[in-house]
Amino acid sequence: MTLTSETFRSVRPLTGDGRKLYIETYGCQMNVGDSEIVLSILQAEGFRYTEQIEQADLILINTCSIRDNAEQRIWNRLRDLKPLKKSRHVLIGVIGCMAERLREALIEREQIVDIVAGPDAYRDLPRLVREATDGGRGVNVLLSREETYAEISPVRLDKNGVSAFIAIMRGCNNMCSYCVVPYTRGNERSRDPETILAEARDLLASGYKEVTLLGQNVNSYRWESEDRVTDFADLLAAVADIDPRLRVRFATSHPKDLSDKLLETMAAHPNLCRCIHLPAQSGSTRLLQLMNRKYTREWYMDRIEAIRRILPDCAITTDLIAGFCTETEEDHAQTLSLMEWAGYAFAYMFKYSERPNTKAARHMTDDVPDEVKTRRLNEIIALQNELSLRSNRADVGRRFEVLVEGTSKRSDRQLFGRNSQNKVIVFDKGDHKVGDYVTVEVTDCSSATLLGRAID
Ligand code: 5AD
Ligand code: SF4
Repeated sequence: MTLTSETFRSVRPLTGDGRKLYIETYGCQMNVGDSEIVLSILQAEGFRYTEQIEQADLILINTCSIRDNAEQRIWNRLRDLKPLKKSRHVLIGVIGCMAERLREALIEREQIVDIVAGPDAYRDLPRLVREATDGGRGVNVLLSREETYAEISPVRLDKNGVSAFIAIMRGCNNMCSYCVVPYTRGNERSRDPETILAEARDLLASGYKEVTLLGQNVNSYRWESEDRVTDFADLLAAVADIDPRLRVRFATSHPKDLSDKLLETMAAHPNLCRCIHLPAQSGSTRLLQLMNRKYTREWYMDRIEAIRRILPDCAITTDLIAGFCTETEEDHAQTLSLMEWAGYAFAYMFKYSERPNTKAARHMTDDVPDEVKTRRLNEIIALQNELSLRSNRADVGRRFEVLVEGTSKRSDRQLFGRNSQNKVIVFDKGDHKVGDYVTVEVTDCSSATLLGRAID
């Protein structure tokens, strides 16, 4: 069943009644997808979406708890909203991971928050908004074992009309010792593949050319129906088979579950994009054990060798954490040497940030001094800049099929898009437009971007 305004209207009056809703999203791509689900739920209640915060009757902040600085940004944002709240009647809601983690503090500390909804409570938002409208507080942070919002059609907030995210699962069971996600997003649950395929077909029919399947650990996707089991490789093949012109990406893979079957499925479908995001976190087996990553340095290297063997043109990207508990110079050197060996095309790099109630916070000491963390992170960033440049230089002279996503920020005579490896390529516009596939020859590069010229 798809939620429509009719579904609600038949039972009771609409909560929104033409009021304007503004949503601000922080954190990961999952959160972008969640904001789209929230918008769908509240539009069905008669809310109208606005991009102007000054006009909003309801402001929702979709939050992230992954690192302390992510939370600090949101506290600052709430403080910024105080004058707005004082100047006129507007409801403010905090939703997402921070709502889950800090429900009481959110209500007490800034005194401007009317609604608090955790990631599994979005269907309850109409009720929570009604309570807040009546002068109370609407709070629901209950986590669920089943909620996947499977049949809700997200209202797309990304405006390029070319690429969209599809959440295929929610939650996480991995329990990495540093990570707050299992606590904020709860247990892992996969979404019915039929609803995923229907969403991808709908996107294609409305002009989209690329979908990214999202989950905290997509490799453990699993759906059992009466007659069969669908794993992630099966799901990926089914989405790829919808149309060879639909590009399909996915994130994020956990190295412990990256199977040869998945790599072979990718090899058999050219529209499954040649880029695998494979977070290493550290190059030291001792640290990986403390992080509860459930693989060793050697296992990780074996998975990269499998990618190189089965998908020789595949880009590999990663996440790295500097200065996790007890990390020594030797552990850090192993991270640098793994990076060098893997030759990552791109990396997200972070300083370890202790998160309350995680295994690391409860059982380990955050003992690497901040200045040491900073220095190590800077070394990791400097090396990655070199590796990215090296990887981009190797592409100069090569030709790629680029899916155009928009006009370049620097010049409206240039377009930008991505190749299958997820690298951004900028080139002169000519007669091409957003949504086209264009063959581009790379002529030059920086560490962040490829420059090229269109061939056709
Ligand atoms: N401190 C620093 N980085 C973290 N990440 C997750 N938790 C923490 C933390 N407590 C990073 C990991 C993960 C990415 C999404 O964020 O690298 O892959
Ligand atoms: Fe942030 Fe993790 Fe929650 Fe995404 S799942 S919003 S990265 S804490």
